[in-house]
Amino acid sequence: MYDELQIIKWPDPRLKKASVAVTTFDDNLKTLSDRMFTLMREAKGVGLAAPQVGVNIRLFVMNATGQPEGDRVYINPVLTEGSGSDEDEEGCLSLPTIYIPVLRDETLTMTAKDLTGQPIAETATGFVARVWQHETDHLNGVLLTDRMGPVAKMTFRKKLKELEEDYAIANPKKKR
Ligand code: CO
Repeated sequence: MYDELQIIKWPDPRLKKASVAVTTFDDNLKTLSDRMFTLMREAKGVGLAAPQVGVNIRLFVMNATGQPEGDRVYINPVLTEGSGSDEDEEGCLSLPTIYIPVLRDETLTMTAKDLTGQPIAETATGFVARVWQHETDHLNGVLLTDRMGPVAKMTFRKKLKELEEDYAIANPKKKR
């Protein structure tokens, strides 16, 4: 049922929806996250949120190490106790070839659920904390395009226009 899922690209409206909390922790979540890990690896990404495959639930997968044991699934994540700030370049599998500097909390704590519904609480700094914030943004319908300043918008104007045209060609009858 999830085999056909693909990574959707901006400006697909499903990326702008706020996703809903997961309330049922069944085998479907594992099947979905397995498919998301496959797509994430194929695209050489470090994280992927469920709305990026068109499923608007609060779940994301990530792997910050590139090793199989680095796979993580977080469900219904809540970020708290943010401190410090750190600016670095971010990309997004739904906005290919666009990289912009984003200011994030340097350190924070995340509470979430795992695939079986068990609670998780972790604290991270730097890159991992950045991925958590990027993926949690996706669950709230927030994209890098929302974090672009006027300079970045200008820099990537042509690329964004290309993505809009690609979307229009792939979805001729849908409302944009
Ligand atoms: Co992204």
